[in-house]
Amino acid sequence: MSKQILVLTGAGISAESGLKTFRDSGGLWEDHAIEDVATPEGFAADPELVWRFYKMRYQQAEQARPNAGHYALAELEEVLGEQFHIITQNVDGLHQKAGSKRVLEMHGRLKRCFCTDCHKRYEMSRTDLSLPVPVCDACRSVLRPDIVWFGEIPYYLSEIDQLLRNCDLFLVIGTSGVVYPAAGFVLTARYHGARTISINPNEPANNTHFDECIQSKAGDFLPSFVAELKQQVLT
Ligand code: APR
Ligand code: ZN
Repeated sequence: MSKQILVLTGAGISAESGLKTFRDSGGLWEDHAIEDVATPEGFAADPELVWRFYKMRYQQAEQARPNAGHYALAELEEVLGEQFHIITQNVDGLHQKAGSKRVLEMHGRLKRCFCTDCHKRYEMSRTDLSLPVPVCDACRSVLRPDIVWFGEIPYYLSEIDQLLRNCDLFLVIGTSGVVYPAAGFVLTARYHGARTISINPNEPANNTHFDECIQSKAGDFLPSFVAELKQQVLT
């Protein structure tokens, strides 16, 4: 039985909760240019447009419910405790809604924003979203969503590096494998001896780096896979 299980998730795990992915057909990047809504330059050029995009995604995420894939991972953490961690590129908070606790949100979270000047942090639920561009109570500067945009440095990179070096099984679920640094994590985990598995109905771009690519939807595959892993731990 593997001792440390590390999971990396992407937009695909939330697809079955009704949230759009980015790069599948009908995905978010079909209707919105990345450079307009997901870069610091885009925000500087048109903060109202960027806020419209993230208010919409925040409201959709608030209404979304976790699916069988999220719940299966939360169940596994209940059994494994400290031996189980999730790194997610998702900003929707669905892992936590399903009950997962050890979650590193490397690309930020929709439910928070912060001041571009004094960096005070706010919950979206306590922010006046009727304003086209919300402002800071403390210094009246413009607030921005707490999202890591292209050209910015993801959160928790040193904690993530430690987890990658120490895991025995690395499961990568629902990510296209094109956005770095996350797309390269499999190489670190593998180099340090982990078994690496991708779970995705399509082949990710970095598919050759995995020991095994399971072509399946997260919600279809994870419940039985997790039940098997739990069995191995408990017997
Ligand atoms: N179960 C598992 N995987 C799925 C499912 C499903 N039900 N449905 C779709 N997928 C897969 C797709 O095949 C695709 O490979 O999920 C992946 C989604 O890929 P992207 O849309 O590129 O999302 P992601 O990899 O999370 O994007 C990475 O890019 O846009 C930025 O910052 C954003 O965090 C995001 C990062
Ligand atoms: Zn401020």
